Amino acid sequence: MTGLRSHPRFVSLEGGEGAGKTTVLHALRDALREDGAEVVSTREPGGTPLAEMIRDLLLDPGHEPPAAETELLLMFAARAQHVRETILPALERGAWVICDRFTDSSYAYQGGGRGLDAGLIAELERRVVGLQPGLTLLLDVDIAQGRERTRGRDLARGANGPDRIERERDEFFERVRATYRARADGEPARFRVIDASQPAQAVAAEAVARLREWRDAAA
Ligand SMILES: Nc1ncnc2c1ncn2[C@@H]1O[C@H](COP(=O)(O)OP(=O)(O)O)[C@@H](O)[C@H]1O
Ligand SMILES: [Mg+2]
Repeated sequence: MTGLRSHPRFVSLEGGEGAGKTTVLHALRDALREDGAEVVSTREPGGTPLAEMIRDLLLDPGHEPPAAETELLLMFAARAQHVRETILPALERGAWVICDRFTDSSYAYQGGGRGLDAGLIAELERRVVGLQPGLTLLLDVDIAQGRERTRGRDLARGANGPDRIERERDEFFERVRATYRARADGEPARFRVIDASQPAQAVAAEAVARLREWRDAAA
């Protein structure tokens, strides 16, 4: 893809709410560390102090809802900072970077979910980010099952309930899911789709296996 550099030690996790991204991230991080690698695990939106402040703005349900374009540009503002401050320095010193969401989330949520033009997103990706993961694991699960899991998680944490984006309707998340699947179909060399309806241990084991395969093939 023109203007986009792919990095083999840069891995992203994608999927809807409650798919198990954060759970899998911990399993991948532990597996790579067991194998002796340095691993930086990070998330979007966020991953630097400034980008985490942008995250708070983006997910706060308390102010007026941002326009779709505002949401998109704030996501990319956070990502621009994250790439420069966290991801590239880690890759350059030889670490692995595992990221909970990356640019595919913008295609899925701001593109598929909100209906913004994928060409605009691609232009921002190319000109503002310039980097894409070598490997992207898409955790695919149906919307109801994902919602059930986030409800359990938030109750266990005593959290304040769903954030602004989690409050969207099922139709929004169906479009998000369809966009993710279409992207995975379109880029089979980068994506691995994992059936995330399986028990957590099975999902984690499959994710670790896909990552080790990828690493061993690249070596
Ligand atoms: N495969 C799974 N089966 C059942 N529960 C899961 C599974 N994966 C994660 N969970 C639980 O569901 C909740 C949401 O998982 P999480 O990793 O936070 O999802 P995400 O980061 O994709 O929103 C957590 O409480 C987690 O322990
Ligand atoms: Mg998470």
